[in-house]
Amino acid sequence: MSGTSARRPRVVVSRSPLPGDGVEHLATRCDVTAWTGTHPPTPAELAGLVRGCDGLLVFGSDRVDAALLDAAGPDLRVVALASMGYDGVDVAAAAERGVVVTHTPDVLADTTADVAMALILMARRRLPAGMDALRRGAWGAFRMDAFLGLDTHGATLGLIGYGQIARALARRAGGFGMRVQHHHPRRREDDALSRWVPFEELLRTSDVVSVHTPLTEETKGMIGEAELALMKPTATLVNTGRGGVVDEQALLTALRRGSLHSAGLDVMTGEPRTDPSDPLLNEPHLVVLPHLGSATEATRAAMVDLAARNIAAVMDDRPALTPLPG
Ligand code: DGY
Repeated sequence: MSGTSARRPRVVVSRSPLPGDGVEHLATRCDVTAWTGTHPPTPAELAGLVRGCDGLLVFGSDRVDAALLDAAGPDLRVVALASMGYDGVDVAAAAERGVVVTHTPDVLADTTADVAMALILMARRRLPAGMDALRRGAWGAFRMDAFLGLDTHGATLGLIGYGQIARALARRAGGFGMRVQHHHPRRREDDALSRWVPFEELLRTSDVVSVHTPLTEETKGMIGEAELALMKPTATLVNTGRGGVVDEQALLTALRRGSLHSAGLDVMTGEPRTDPSDPLLNEPHLVVLPHLGSATEATRAAMVDLAARNIAAVMDDRPALTPLPG
C-alpha cells in the first residue's frame, strides 16, 4: 500500500500515551490505533490488534515474532521500534516476509550514557547505602570509616562493545579523570577516547567494566563465572545494555564472596522484576534501576518521533531513515 493509494495506511502502536507528538504527526496521514490498556499488551492481545495493519510501532519489550507478523498479515510493510536494541524482533522472519525493521540509534546514546555514569558513581561510592541509612535514621556520629567507597578518578573504564552509547560514556569518563579502554571483536582500532584491548585483558585490568553489547546468541551470558573471576576484587560491573548478557547468579555469587566490589544494573533478565524479595533487588553492593536509561522527556519523544518518521518514510516508498544495521 503506497502513499498514493486511496486507502489510508493503518498503523498500530503498542502503547499509549506516548511522549512528544510523533504519533500525532503520523495520524495526519495514517489511521493510527494505539493500545490503551493499563498493562502492556500480551502477545495474544497485540496479535488481535495488529490484524490487517500496514505499519507497527513497538518498543524494546515487545516480542515481534513470526506469529505476530503473520497475525498482522500481508499488508504489513514496516515494524518501527522506538528502541535501539532489537533483540525482541525475529529479524529473519521479518526479512522472509519483506517487512522492513527500523530502530532508534543516535537519539538515545547520551541519555543512556548519563545513566551508565550515574551507576558507576552510585555503585563505587555506595551512594544508595548512604541514602538508605539516612532514611532509616541511622546516620549516626561522624566516623572516618563510614560509607567508604572507591574513587572513580584515576580508575580505568573498560567498555565491552564500542557503539554509540559506549563512546558517549567514554566522553563522560574522560571528564571524570578515568582512563578508557574498550573491546570490540571486529573493530580493533584505538581512537582519541579509548584504546582497543583484548577481552581478557580488559576484564583483568579495568576498575569498571561497562557492558554495551547487544543481546545475541553470541553475547548471551558472556559475563559469567569465568569472566567475573578475571575481574579485580575492587572492580565494578555496570550493565545498561541487555540483562541476558550477564549471568545474574554468577554476579550475585561474586558480590557475596567479595571477589567483585560492586555492580550497577539498569537491565535484568525477565523484566519487569516485581517481587520485592527478589535477591537481585536486595544485594547490598548491587545498584539496580528499572531499565530507565533512555527515560527523559526529550529522548523518549525523540525515539517515538524517529520511529513514526520511519513508518512515514516506508509508507511513502522512501528508504527507512534508520533501518537495522545490515
Ligand atoms: C533501547 O533503546 O534499546 C533501550 O534499552 C530501551 O529499550
